[in-house]
Amino acid sequence: MVVKAPLLSLLVNLHAALLFLPAPGSAQVYDVTRYGARPDGVTDSAVPFLRAWADACRSPGLGPATVHVPPGVFLLGRSTTFSGPCKARSIAFSIAGTLLAPAGYGWDSAGPGRWITFESVDRLTVSGGTLDARGASLWACKKQQQLLHPLLHCPSGASSLTISNSKGVLVEGVRSVNSELFHVVVLQSHGVTLRRVAVEAPGDSPNTDGIHVHMSSHVSVYDANIRTGDDCVSIGPGNSHLWVERVACGPGHGISIGSLGKEQGMAVEAVQNVTVKTTWFTGTTNGLRIKTWGSSKRGFVSGVDFIDSTMTGVQNPIIIDQNYCPDKNGCGTHKSSSIKVSDVKYVGIRGWSATPVAVNFDCSKSNPCRGISLQDVMLTYNQSPMVGGAAKSSCRNAQGSTLGLVVPPSCL
Ligand SMILES: *[C@@H]1O[C@H](CO)[C@@H](O)[C@H](O)[C@H]1NC(C)=O
Repeated sequence: MVVKAPLLSLLVNLHAALLFLPAPGSAQVYDVTRYGARPDGVTDSAVPFLRAWADACRSPGLGPATVHVPPGVFLLGRSTTFSGPCKARSIAFSIAGTLLAPAGYGWDSAGPGRWITFESVDRLTVSGGTLDARGASLWACKKQQQLLHPLLHCPSGASSLTISNSKGVLVEGVRSVNSELFHVVVLQSHGVTLRRVAVEAPGDSPNTDGIHVHMSSHVSVYDANIRTGDDCVSIGPGNSHLWVERVACGPGHGISIGSLGKEQGMAVEAVQNVTVKTTWFTGTTNGLRIKTWGSSKRGFVSGVDFIDSTMTGVQNPIIIDQNYCPDKNGCGTHKSSSIKVSDVKYVGIRGWSATPVAVNFDCSKSNPCRGISLQDVMLTYNQSPMVGGAAKSSCRNAQGSTLGLVVPPSCL
């Protein structure tokens, strides 16, 4: 033992040296302030950021090339895309400060609906920092449009951070506040891990989904803390092998698979092999949701495990909604969903529902849900079952089985 301690400390020091003192030439750091970016919150730093990116991206070094954003507030005053493919073996975008979007809305109305995009970049790490999109004025427009002036034109807005067409990506410790549209989007990408992502927007901010995954595979989300005005995590069509673990959600609309089957485009829409494990929902409209439009669009959702979840005052803790039709448009005349839902497990779901129906399987008449399984479910109506009576289950066109204790009693 006496001999081992110094050896251990030597190893620790060596390890630290390797981490923090890269050999000359092996790692390159491109500080955006060296390219003219100004941490004053008012000077548009988009061009300096893009120049730093271009140099990092073409750096031939064997080590990672790092774009570094120091502390301070940097205005990124336009839709900004960091494109690959890169020559660098791997590339890191490390943010210590805050990136600020332009004030007001409409600055992107002719653009791609995105604020910051990483496009076709493999082996990328984006870490740290706050992305502040200042979405409040657009939300106000959308709320007015909805309530008072249907003819008022509001742009749809820009998603804050998009990872597109990329492989081997880690997004770590990024905080996104007040996005105009979705906060973080993973699009047509494979092997993407989101770790310790924090999302903050008011509970009534429209269309501000926390993390949206679309047409992607092997995407993992760990340790996310999401408070927003729409879905905390939304899993759109074309996703497979998705893992979501330790997510706190609320306010928000829950973790949703779908919506699938909106009547546009012709491709079959599918979602398969999804695990959602250890989640906490607080005051959300939904907990664990699958939603498909009542339309003739074909597709399927198959192989979904919802494991270990705590519901605190959730309006629809467990819900499959195959008659999803907000605003009564996009559903056509076909009222029965053509999306097949099968092999969906709920294991260890507990807590309380804010409405009497805690478990709701509203499936398609033409394509009933199959292989739904409930195991160890304990949901009450209200915090105390003494108030307002017992929780209920509701089933339409749903088939499946139960295991262990299931409260409210299953209607499968
Ligand atoms: C399901 O997805 C997980 C990753 O989330 C993966 O590890 C597993 O191999 C996949 N299972 C199948 C049967 O493809």
